[in-house]
Amino acid sequence: MTIASIERVAVIGTGVIGASWTACFLARGLGVTAWDPAPGAEAALRAAVAAHWPAMQAMGLAPGASPEALRFAGSAEEAAAAADFVQENGPERLDLKRELYARLDAATGPEVILASSSSTLLMSEVQVACARHPERVVLGHPFNPPHLIPLVEVLGGKATAEAVLDRAMAFYAGIGKKPIRLRREIRGHVANRLQAALWQEAFHLVQAGVAGVEEIDAAIAHGPGLRWALLGPFLNLHLSGGPGGIGALFGKPLWQATERMWRELGEVSVDAALGGDVAAGVAQELSGRDQAEMVRQRDAVLLELLRLKADAGTLP
Ligand SMILES: NC(=O)c1ccc[n+]([C@@H]2O[C@H](COP(=O)([O-])OP(=O)(O)OC[C@H]3O[C@@H](n4cnc5c(N)ncnc54)[C@H](O)[C@@H]3O)[C@@H](O)[C@H]2O)c1
Repeated sequence: MTIASIERVAVIGTGVIGASWTACFLARGLGVTAWDPAPGAEAALRAAVAAHWPAMQAMGLAPGASPEALRFAGSAEEAAAAADFVQENGPERLDLKRELYARLDAATGPEVILASSSSTLLMSEVQVACARHPERVVLGHPFNPPHLIPLVEVLGGKATAEAVLDRAMAFYAGIGKKPIRLRREIRGHVANRLQAALWQEAFHLVQAGVAGVEEIDAAIAHGPGLRWALLGPFLNLHLSGGPGGIGALFGKPLWQATERMWRELGEVSVDAALGGDVAAGVAQELSGRDQAEMVRQRDAVLLELLRLKADAGTLP
């Protein structure tokens, strides 16, 4: 299979995210050459791909897609040299990523895209390590687990070429992802920052004794979370605005109350006491529940939701 002129992907670093990406690429019929320096990494990767494969089958495989199209290389250079596109998922350390990108840059032709899964690093900080072709370094930040969740945040660093970003967007869209193009580098990108904002207030509400862990989880999972899986915060707000939509909301008393809440949102650090309270709350929420079965059901419902969303043509 060739997607946006890409036939073979190198997956560098095959921990949680790299293994999940590997299953995703294989399911789209791409050849994958992987590398990870950890002892036993190849066996662990093959086991993870086998574990993810039923979900990939449920989502639909590309013609000829097979876990057999996975080859494990003896070095990062060897893996990357065989690829048209590199998805890097090494540990989240700038010194390590710089050393790795210097090697990947030296081992690959200028047309090969080097995409990083990094959750927090800026590509401008990483691509300075590429002496030859920093312009092909991009962020391709997935949301865990990438074999199920469509979102990929795409952004360049200061030296990244526009044409490379266009190709990366086309590639991720071509494998069935929902890539979004960010406009400016910021630590944590977009989705993790939005998530962080919610966590901050969730911890603050526990600390302030407003509600327990279980109730706060229910407030999202049985409340706004259901709509947020279908429409983002702005479209949901637009639909709350009545016939005038979002533009008619601002300045009204309800909106003024919302902005007052912004100023009252809690700032919190998770000290030993709060961390202990939240961990105890989670243990209580899980008591009597089979966690493995809960995760299995979460993924089964998620697959069904993804299928329903794909069929609902007017949802963005
Ligand atoms: N875990 C998440 O939820 C998540 C989500 C999105 C993005 N990310 C990003 O993905 C990347 C990997 O995160 P993870 O959660 O899979 O971590 P992980 O610890 O599970 O995997 C990292 C892997 O990198 C390997 N490694 C060690 N040294 C290396 C080197 N020099 N070169 C290449 N690989 C090396 C390790 O053996 C390990 O298998 C990070 O950049 C992280 O920010 C993580």
